[in-house]
Amino acid sequence: MANLIVAGAAGRMGRVLVGMIARDPVHKLAGAVEAKGVAAVGSDAGEVAGVGPLGLRITDDYAALARPDTVTLDFTNAAASLEHLNLAANNGAAIVVASTGFNADQEKRAAAIAPRTRTVISPNLSIGVNVLSKLVEQVAAILPDFDAEVVEIHHRTKVDAPSGTALALGRTIAAARKVDFKSHSVFGREGITGVRPGDQISVIGLRAGDAVGDHTVIFGGQGERLELIHRAQSRDSLARGALRAAAWLEKQKPGLYSMRDVLGL
Ligand SMILES: NC(=O)c1ccc[n+]([C@@H]2O[C@H](COP(=O)([O-])OP(=O)(O)OC[C@H]3O[C@@H](n4cnc5c(N)ncnc54)[C@H](O)[C@@H]3O)[C@@H](O)[C@H]2O)c1
Repeated sequence: MANLIVAGAAGRMGRVLVGMIARDPVHKLAGAVEAKGVAAVGSDAGEVAGVGPLGLRITDDYAALARPDTVTLDFTNAAASLEHLNLAANNGAAIVVASTGFNADQEKRAAAIAPRTRTVISPNLSIGVNVLSKLVEQVAAILPDFDAEVVEIHHRTKVDAPSGTALALGRTIAAARKVDFKSHSVFGREGITGVRPGDQISVIGLRAGDAVGDHTVIFGGQGERLELIHRAQSRDSLARGALRAAAWLEKQKPGLYSMRDVLGL
């Protein structure tokens, strides 16, 4: 049983999590946090999540909640997650950083802070996506001559592109093929682009409607094509993965872990 803090409690993922934890006989909702100035601060977390009152008010004071016996599920944004990670590390609290959209500097800072406390950083907490990543790693190595293209589609309100998951899949392919992702990746094509280099890895983001998030990895060969597809059908898969990560993380030593560590992949 973990004492869970949901950061970003009034957001899309935060509301799903608060609702799921409220119905979960194992985990306890110990805190719900929102950004300063957001209307939901001071409101009952359950009412904001649409599951009825839970007797727990949303606060904007994360530092006061983060204690060693808590696990934070952070679905906010890169800057807020970095701030929360630092506070969690100072207080010895465990934290699952789910936010995406980290720039290179933020990524570096997060990687430096994370080992000080029990931390999972994962751009995608769904179990299926992590299995997809494992399969992609294997296929990229088995079929080194096949052209690798990563395509994702998400809802129109997602602010970062391509998705953190698509970038992670691209990096997985690069690592499996022992090439540098930065110098071998492209994020779109236009005009006379010439013949596709065989070692290029393209990562393309589509935005439409309310799509929860699909990721397709295409391995194109001569006369055949292998496609690995994961489709998220609701945000529940992400929230369930977050709860699984929290339960696992609670029992670990301080360190930076991935969802693959959580799942033993
Ligand atoms: N890792 C995963 O599996 C996964 C899955 C879904 C979404 N995400 C990521 O999680 C983040 C949130 O996604 P969302 O769709 O719920 O977005 P959202 O915009 O609906 O919700 C984010 C919430 O965070 C709040 N927030 C901002 N700053 C804060 C702060 N300092 N303290 C507390 N709360 C703060 C916002 O007010 C908002 O309510 C995004 O970065 C998204 O890409 C990751």
